[in-house]
Amino acid sequence: MTIEILQPYKLLPDCAAALEKQFTVHKLFEAEDKAAFLKEVGPRIRGLAASGKIDAAMIAALPALEIIANIGVGYDSIDVAAAKARNIRVTNTPDVLNDAVAELTVGMMLALSRRIPQADRFVREGRWARGESFPFSVELTGRTLGILGLGRIGKEIASRAQGLRMRVVYSGRNKQEKEPYSYYADLEEMARDCDWLVVIAPGGKATEGIVSRRVLEALGPQGMLVNMARGSVVDQEALVELLQSGGLGGAALDVFVNEPNVPEALLAMDNVLLSPHVASATQQTRDAMGALMAKNLVAHFKGDPLPSAVV
Ligand code: 8YV
Repeated sequence: MTIEILQPYKLLPDCAAALEKQFTVHKLFEAEDKAAFLKEVGPRIRGLAASGKIDAAMIAALPALEIIANIGVGYDSIDVAAAKARNIRVTNTPDVLNDAVAELTVGMMLALSRRIPQADRFVREGRWARGESFPFSVELTGRTLGILGLGRIGKEIASRAQGLRMRVVYSGRNKQEKEPYSYYADLEEMARDCDWLVVIAPGGKATEGIVSRRVLEALGPQGMLVNMARGSVVDQEALVELLQSGGLGGAALDVFVNEPNVPEALLAMDNVLLSPHVASATQQTRDAMGALMAKNLVAHFKGDPLPSAVV
């Protein structure tokens, strides 16, 4: 008898195929009547291949559930407390996405400071050929980068920023003695001292709104905010207002509070660079994330240690 798992959302073909080799996979997203589907297969489901919101109601609908394997390093979309209460294991996909996320972070910083999208448009629109000159931009070299969350991804961003000859400082829950960068216990103070603030701290209740209006004001009219973490970490309303009023210099945003909805006001701003939550979205990395998720499921049902357990 094969083990039955639930796949609530679509996965990449290779990842879906790997799961189908090992398990009987029930695809919730293909069911027309999802409630009826869950009622029928729910009691037999022992594993969840998660790539989106898994709330307490979903967990309650799966009485035999043993493991939630998430695709993604962040697991704020999973009700971990509800899982814990029933001794359900939760896994994520750390490390395999560090390089992809760090790369896009640096790419967004370069694009925002050197106005790469605008330069491209300028050429395509024939403005260069007509003799117009493209306005000067700002370099990253010599600037101070403050990283909120010097975790596995944060460290990759830090080393790349050093390659760009930036000065790196950081803030987070703890000072990390082995790291060479200056630590700020107070985020507002760090924001005041840096030119760029990169947010790469985990989402969830503990970090909700910690990049507050005061922090953004401290970053100031020349300051640049880069959010590669979760929309929830930044006070999005204050962010929009400060960008509008000139209280903040600019922003590069890969994540938003209510994705895929982006505040209308941001769409019209020239000092804002937007991307659709794609920091880890390279073929290579998404394949690796899918493979690690499948590995966690397989390990669990074999009784082996989990490669990347959260709880
Ligand atoms: C993905 C992410 O967009 O890993 C994360 O926490 O935000 C991204 O890599 C997402 O989790 C894919 O399901």
